Amino acid sequence: MNKKLLIDLQNTPKHVAIIMDGNGRWAKGKGMNRIFGHRNALTAIRESVKAASQVNIEAVTLYAFSTENWNRPKLEVDALMSLLINSLKKELPDFMKNGVRINSIGAIENLPKKAQKVLTDVITETKNNKDIVLTFALSYGSREEIVNTIKNISKKVVNKQLNIEEINEKTINNHLYTFNLPDIDLMIRTSGEQRISNFLLWQMAYAELYFTNTLWPDFREEHFYDAIIDYQNRERRFGKTSEQITE
Ligand code: IPE
Ligand code: IPE
Ligand code: MG
Repeated sequence: MNKKLLIDLQNTPKHVAIIMDGNGRWAKGKGMNRIFGHRNALTAIRESVKAASQVNIEAVTLYAFSTENWNRPKLEVDALMSLLINSLKKELPDFMKNGVRINSIGAIENLPKKAQKVLTDVITETKNNKDIVLTFALSYGSREEIVNTIKNISKKVVNKQLNIEEINEKTINNHLYTFNLPDIDLMIRTSGEQRISNFLLWQMAYAELYFTNTLWPDFREEHFYDAIIDYQNRERRFGKTSEQITE
């Protein structure tokens, strides 16, 4: 059965965030090393973006490398950085063909120079693409983002560009790495772990959370649609009563 047909196109999330987890365990299960798992993550990314495009989702944000992931063995960190560089280059023609605009969030200045360059190039190349925005969270940590935001807002206050009384939620939104993205409607995490791991804490304030045991390298279009169908069966009340929502 084509699961896409079960989706109500009028009620899809605008912005889906994904914690792509389980590459290491997937590889280990096959008697391979962790890096083999990372290498097999690309198909899942392609399928998710394709599925999202087909149901008119505006934005997909992928947790690709966290601030905490810098603490992994150097060999693994290096492999992840090389994969990032090679995959971005390799996927560029498809991004162009499919109208995918690339964006990034995180402390990008901490990435190797070569990765920064490829990322900037791909962002520039795809900047006029309109179908979907695909954001890579790289060297991203939500707490780091919030610290950075507070510093930038404080500077404006000190320079008298901003009054303290004027600071509101919008001010904060506008200073986060995600300033140009809508709030997260749906967060998907693969591999059975049920935690947020320092991802988009502010932006997920009212997101629906979806956890699946599928390991990221096994994640396909149909799994993505399962998450959307689950999302569409939820009632997002935003503090109101159910009666108020259905009225
Ligand atoms: C997610 O898979 C990818 C990154 C964090 C870069 P993991 O590498 O965390 O895989 P597990 O959780 O060890 O299985
Ligand atoms: C979160 O996965 C980060 C990414 C998916 C990039 P981890 O596998 O690093 O998370 P924890 O440390 O197990 O929570
Ligand atoms: Mg993990």
